Amino acid sequence: MRTETPPTVRLEDYRPSDHLIDRVELDVRLDPHDTRVTATLALRPNPAGRAGAPLVLDGDDLTLLALELDGQAPAPDAVRADASGLTLHRPPQRPFTLRIETRLDPTANTRLMGLYRSNGVYCTQCEADGFRRITYFLDRPDVLSVYTTRIEAEREAAPVLLGNGNPVEAGTVPGTDRHYAVWHDPLPKPAYLFALVGGRLDRVAKPFTTMEGRAVEIAVYVEPGKADRAAYALDAVERSMAWDETAFGRAYDLDLFNVVAVSDFNMGAMENKGLNIFNDKYVLASPETATDGDYAAIEAIIAHEYFHNWSGNRVTCRDWFQLCLKEGLTVFRDQEFSSDMRSRAVHRIAEVRNLRARQFPEDAGPLAHPVRPKQYAEINNFYTATVYEKGAEIVRMLRTLIGETAFRAGMDRYFADNDGTAATVEDFLKAFEAVTGRDLSRFAEWYERPGTPRVAVSGSYDPAARTYRLAFRQTRPGAGADAPPLVIPIGLGLVGPDGPLDGPLAPPFAERVEDGVFVLETAEDAVTFENVAAEPVPSLFRAFSAPVRVESPLDDAARLTLLRHDPDSFNRWEAAQRIALGLMTAQVRDETAGDAGADDFVVALGAFLDAEALRDPAFAAQVLALPSEGDLADEIGTEIDPDAIFAARRDLRRRLGTGLRERLLSLREALAEPEGTPFSPDAAAAGRRALRNAALDLIAAADPEAGTALAQAQIAQATNMTDRLAGLAALALVPGEAREAALSAFAERYANEPLVLDKWFAIQAMIPEDGTVERIRRLQGHPAFANTNPNRVRSLVGSFSLANPTQFNRADGAGYALVAETVLALDGTNPQVAARLMTAFGPWRRLEPVRRAAAESALRRIAATPGLSRDVTDIGTRSLA
Ligand code: ARG
Ligand code: ZN
Repeated sequence: MRTETPPTVRLEDYRPSDHLIDRVELDVRLDPHDTRVTATLALRPNPAGRAGAPLVLDGDDLTLLALELDGQAPAPDAVRADASGLTLHRPPQRPFTLRIETRLDPTANTRLMGLYRSNGVYCTQCEADGFRRITYFLDRPDVLSVYTTRIEAEREAAPVLLGNGNPVEAGTVPGTDRHYAVWHDPLPKPAYLFALVGGRLDRVAKPFTTMEGRAVEIAVYVEPGKADRAAYALDAVERSMAWDETAFGRAYDLDLFNVVAVSDFNMGAMENKGLNIFNDKYVLASPETATDGDYAAIEAIIAHEYFHNWSGNRVTCRDWFQLCLKEGLTVFRDQEFSSDMRSRAVHRIAEVRNLRARQFPEDAGPLAHPVRPKQYAEINNFYTATVYEKGAEIVRMLRTLIGETAFRAGMDRYFADNDGTAATVEDFLKAFEAVTGRDLSRFAEWYERPGTPRVAVSGSYDPAARTYRLAFRQTRPGAGADAPPLVIPIGLGLVGPDGPLDGPLAPPFAERVEDGVFVLETAEDAVTFENVAAEPVPSLFRAFSAPVRVESPLDDAARLTLLRHDPDSFNRWEAAQRIALGLMTAQVRDETAGDAGADDFVVALGAFLDAEALRDPAFAAQVLALPSEGDLADEIGTEIDPDAIFAARRDLRRRLGTGLRERLLSLREALAEPEGTPFSPDAAAAGRRALRNAALDLIAAADPEAGTALAQAQIAQATNMTDRLAGLAALALVPGEAREAALSAFAERYANEPLVLDKWFAIQAMIPEDGTVERIRRLQGHPAFANTNPNRVRSLVGSFSLANPTQFNRADGAGYALVAETVLALDGTNPQVAARLMTAFGPWRRLEPVRRAAAESALRRIAATPGLSRDVTDIGTRSLA
C-alpha cells in the first residue's frame, strides 16, 4: 500500500466557500496538443465565508501561462501557483477580477476528465471535479456562476462548436483557418455542469414547444455517417420533455437542448446544462446493431440526463455528500418515466433485479456506505449503486408513505423553494414536511447508515376469532449496534386459495393499514386482520415497497398460491424466484429435499405459461428467468463456492427445459413475428422476443443439440440484433465447432462496428469454461480492442469480472490475476475506470477459503504497487480494511 493515504473529506467539516464567482468568461482556443484557456472570473468575498481568508483555487495538471488581478500582474509573493492549485494570499476584500491563462493538452488526457479528445472530437467531462483540469477555479458545487464561453478551433477539424446555454455569436478568425462560437448560459451553475464540444459531427434535430410556450430545438450530434442511428435517442428526448411536464410540471428552460455522443466516456452520460454528453453506447441504435436492452437503456439514460435539468441543475447539490439528492431522485424519476413508457410491473422487476445484483452485494461488502456518505477520499468512487439505486428507493418509499398527491406537492415545493440554489437532503425532506405537516426526521435515517435491513415476518391465524396476525421484526446488519429502527413501508395483501382477499384489508378490519400499506416504525410490531374466513397467504412488500431482505414465513405451497393469484405482479414473480432460489440453495447445501419440489415447480410454471405467456410475454419471460448466480451467492452469503452455485443453476435450468420443452417450443412458434413485420423496439414486441429467447435458453440448457440447431436457425433468420445475439449467447454455452464458427461470422459481419463488437467481447468473456481466461488474453490483442476505450474494457474485462462467477473466481486465481493485471495496466492512463473494475473484488471475504485467499492476494498485489492513483488506492484501502 502507498504510504501516504489520500486526505479524507468529511461532511461534518463542510463550510461555505470564502469567495464566490459571479461570472465566468472563458476563451478556449482548441488545439490537439496546445489548447489555451483564458478565464476571466468576477470574484467577491462570500458574506457567509471567513473575512480576509486567502483565495484557494483548485487545479489539476494545469500549466499557468499568465495571471492578472484587476488588470495588473500581482506581486510574485502574493501568489502561489502550481499544477494543482493557485492561491492568492491576500485577495481584495471587495469584488475583483482575475484573468487566468492556462495551457493543456487534450490529446494526452487519457483520464477522460476535463477537456479531452475522443476519436478526434474535443469534449469535456467535469463532474465531479474535472473543471479544475481546464482552469483554476472554486471547483465545488455550491459556487454558482453565469458562464459565457468563446470556443475557437480550426474550422476543418471542428466545424461544430457547442457550449452550454444559447448561442450568441459565431464567426471566422480573420487571416486564419479558424472559426469561433460564443455561448451564453443565463442560469448560474456549478463548474461540474460546464461543457464544450468541438468536432466533425452529424446532426439530427426536431422542434419542441414547452407547456410555457417556449420554442426549443432538440438536437442529437453523432459521428459522421451515423445520423440514422440517432433517431431513437432524439425521440426519447422529446418524450422525456413532454413527460416531465405532465408528471412533474417541469418545463425546459433554454432555446436549445443538445445531446452529443462520444465514443470514449468513463460513465454513461452527463447532464451538462443544455449540452448533455453521452457515451455513444447510450445514443446510437438501429435494429441491426442494438438489442431491445440497448433501446431500453438509451430511453432511460436520455430521460435521466434530461430530468437532471431540474433535479440536479436548477436545484444542485451543496456538496458531494449530497450526491443522492440529484442522483437518487433522478433515477427515481427515470424509473417512473420508463414505467409509464413500458410495463410498470415488468419494469419494477427489472429495477429490483438490478438493485439486488449490484446494490445488495455492495451494501454487504467492504465498500458499503450510507446513501449519504459521511466521508470520502475520492468522490468519483461514490457514483455507486447505493447512491443511485438505493437513493431512488428512498424517494419511492417517501412517496409510498405520504401518498402520490402529497408527493407531487412536495416535489413542487422542493423545486420552488430551492430553485437556483445548492441544496441538501435536509432541504429535500423539509419540502415534504411543509406540505404534509409530518415529521420526517426518523425517515431520514435511511440516508445515514449502510447495510440492507432485514425484516422477519411471521403469520398466525386464529380460526375461532377469524383473525390473522402478521408480526414484523426489523434488524439492521452492517449498520452498527446503536442503529435506530427504520421507518419501513410494507405493501400488504392477503390471498386465498382462489384469489385475493380484499375484505380483511378494508377498514375497519385492519387497523393501521392504509391503502394496502402498513408502516413498521419500531423494531417489532404487528398488525391484525379481522373477518378472515380461512388461513390466508400474506403477500408481503408488494411492488417491493422497501429495499430490505425479507425473512418470509411462506412455504413453497403458499408461494405457488401467490404465483397463481396475487394481483401484485411483482410478488407473483417474486414467488417463483423464491421457489427457484430455495431449490438451488438446497442443492448447493447438499440437502436432498430438492426433487419433488422441483417437479411441483415445473408443473406450476407450465400452468403459469398456459395462462399467461401469450397474455403478457414480457412478464412471463421474467418469471422464466431464474435468479442469477449472483443472486444465489448473495442468498448463501458465506463460504461461497461459485462452481457449486453454477451446477445448481444449470441443473434447474435443465430440469425446466426438459419438463417444459413442448410448451417452450410451441411458444416460440406462437410468438414468432410473421415474416416481413417491420422491427419495432416497443415494449410489446420486445416482450415477445424476450420470451422466445428465454425459451431458447431453457431448451438449449436441457438439450444442447436441439438448442444449437434452434440458435443457428435463429441467427440465420434474424432481422434484428436482439434475436441474433440471443442465438449467439445460446451457442456460446455449447463448446464446439458451431460456436466458434458463429463467433467468427459475427465478428466478420460487424468488423467495423465497435459497439457491436463489444457484445461479441462480452459474450466470450462470459463463457463459463476453463479456457475463458486464455480467450480473454487473446482478445486483449484483437485489433478492435483498446485499453484506452472504457467501453471495450468494460465489455471484455468488466463482463468477465461481474458476470462470469466461475471463471473470475477460478480456484487457481487465474481470473483474479487477469483482472488485477488489467487494473494495474489501466491505472496509469484511466484511474476512474481502473478503480471501477477493481470493485469486482468487493465480495471477496464471503468466498470459500481457497478462493478467498487467492482474491486477497490479488488485491494485496494491486495495493502494494507503487505510484497508484488515488482512485485505486481508495478502493484497495477500503476493500482490505
Ligand atoms: N451525473 C452523471 C449521471 O448522471 C454521472 C457522472 C459521473 N461522473 C464521474 N466522473 N464520476 O448520471
Ligand atoms: Zn445522474
